[in-house]
Amino acid sequence: MGAYQAFHQRSLSERDAFWDEQAALIDWHKPHTQVCDFSHPPFARWFVEGETNLCHNAIDRHLSARGDQKALIYISTETGIEKSYTYRELYKEVNRAAGMLHTLGVGKGDRVLIYMPMIAEAVFAMLACARVGAIHSVVFGGFAAASLATRIDDAKPALMITADAGMRGGRAIPYKPLVDEALRLAQHPPRQVIVVNRGIDKDYKPVVGRDLDYATLRKAHAEVNTPVTWLESSEPSYILYTSGTTGRPKGVQRDTGGYAVALAASMKHIYCGNPGETMFTTSDIGWVVGHSYIVYAPLIAGMTTILYEGLPIRPDAGIWWKIVEQYKVSVMFSSPTAARVLKKQDPVYLSKYDLSTLRHVFLAGEPLDEPTHRWLTDALQKPVIDHYWQTETGWPILSAVHGVEKTPIKMGTPSFPVYGYNLQILRESDATEAAVDEKGVVAIVPPLPPGCMSTVWGDDERFVNTYFTSFRSRQIYATFDWGIRDKDGYHFILGRTDDVINVAGHRLGTREIEEAVQSHANIAEVAVVGVADQIKGQMPLAFAVVKDGGKIATPELKAAQEKEVMAAVDKQLGAIGRPSRVHFVTLLPKTRSGKLLRRSIQALAEGRDPGDLTTIEDPAALDQIRVALQQG
Ligand code: PRX
Repeated sequence: MGAYQAFHQRSLSERDAFWDEQAALIDWHKPHTQVCDFSHPPFARWFVEGETNLCHNAIDRHLSARGDQKALIYISTETGIEKSYTYRELYKEVNRAAGMLHTLGVGKGDRVLIYMPMIAEAVFAMLACARVGAIHSVVFGGFAAASLATRIDDAKPALMITADAGMRGGRAIPYKPLVDEALRLAQHPPRQVIVVNRGIDKDYKPVVGRDLDYATLRKAHAEVNTPVTWLESSEPSYILYTSGTTGRPKGVQRDTGGYAVALAASMKHIYCGNPGETMFTTSDIGWVVGHSYIVYAPLIAGMTTILYEGLPIRPDAGIWWKIVEQYKVSVMFSSPTAARVLKKQDPVYLSKYDLSTLRHVFLAGEPLDEPTHRWLTDALQKPVIDHYWQTETGWPILSAVHGVEKTPIKMGTPSFPVYGYNLQILRESDATEAAVDEKGVVAIVPPLPPGCMSTVWGDDERFVNTYFTSFRSRQIYATFDWGIRDKDGYHFILGRTDDVINVAGHRLGTREIEEAVQSHANIAEVAVVGVADQIKGQMPLAFAVVKDGGKIATPELKAAQEKEVMAAVDKQLGAIGRPSRVHFVTLLPKTRSGKLLRRSIQALAEGRDPGDLTTIEDPAALDQIRVALQQG
């Protein structure tokens, strides 16, 4: 048996001893009395009665050994600003932000909604919440007002923190007007909003009595030290909303101690990031990759983390490699979409910079196609590690674990189940294990390891019903991904089993997009499917039935209507959910019981066979889809 296989096996067979050892990687205010309480399956509590704090582990405990080492480097190619913070400086900034929270009456268990661009204050805000035991809910800046309002009403935050604007590709993207709109729509708006005024939005206007200026508050708290609030290990650290089958996003709730341990262990075993080295994760703080591997994990590991605001090809396609050279990056984490974008650029950018410090490049968030995996490996002459995980798990499920054993990398696969995960590929029909090379559902036998979601925020029943009822005979966590295992034990992910699509690594529910399309007054019905895209992996495509046919009676009217529908999606959900096209039909393919045949539509759009159509109500509906696709 290989070293990694033995490591993985022990993590399951001697589960408590294994995680007890990993728990020593972080600081505890009070030790745990039990490693795992699984007396109420599928709920698991890790490191019971242990007390710790994420902010303490990310900052305070490094102060004596590395107070003058850089902790955070903020680079914005949008504004030209570059600024770094040592651990001591980060400590000060976070104490100030935590002081603001205290002054505003925000403390343990209160929710704080963070809707911010990629600026250092966003990191301060997250860590400040962790420091005082407040639960942050970071919402990705690409979501529009209505989506923001839904998340506000679910989390019921005591406070919101935002900025006047973000920037993308040189264009200002106002944030505050969206916040104003969301707060008008929300049933449970917070009383106060802290705004970081970057001076980007010239029309920025604070709402008197509600909006507070970050810089003013910072000055007032310049010398404040805010003590850490110790949390019992299972107490929540944050909520992060993610999409599923329904239009209503789920608040993934994360614990504190289990998460800190899982991240610390992953830095050692998977990412091989050492204290004092630099990690560069190109995601956004609004996604789980940003939470775990821009903010918490590198800091817990005593590394320097890079926060990058900008595009991968601006000012040119060498910018990321320039950063690697300049800051001696040793671990990089990006997405397959970014790799495909870079693949289309002049290869000279890859040989222009000294990348000798870089040991590994990790990619996740969406399927990594074999040619791109091979291209990047050849271009960098470094191991490129495809690894697979979810918002729900917070850290990798499948990966090569090179800190334990340098297993060979097979192109197009995220390798093996990570330690702690009892992963199985199950047949959908009877929950038995699929054979080698047989497709099945990727499932995890509970308890889920430390760091994984503890429940759906405010809805334990939804947690159980959503994730643990796919197989009637066994209570097992379903990832909703198809997968296979080959004869060498390598796993391949073959796409989602549900209606979730993945656009440039952004996880979206087709139902969510459909609801956004239907917010347009003239749309009666719509089907949205994800269609393969060369760069972004998938793109949403919509087929809509209008109420008033007169509004699409001519090609010009039709084009105008399509534009309007797209604008409605931008307004409701955000441009990330905008369909690449909206085709108009008079009938949608459905089963006789009224279920949309999204898979058949998707197959036609990708030029494949639509599959079994014995249950279709009216075959003419598919002909309409065919015609619409042909007409383009
Ligand atoms: O379908 C899988 C896909 O992305 C989903 C999770 O997305 P999200 O919650 O945004 O979390 C991303 C964390 C990295 C999965 O259910 N996915 C993620 N990584 C991979 C992947 N599909 C194939 N290969 C991957 N490496």
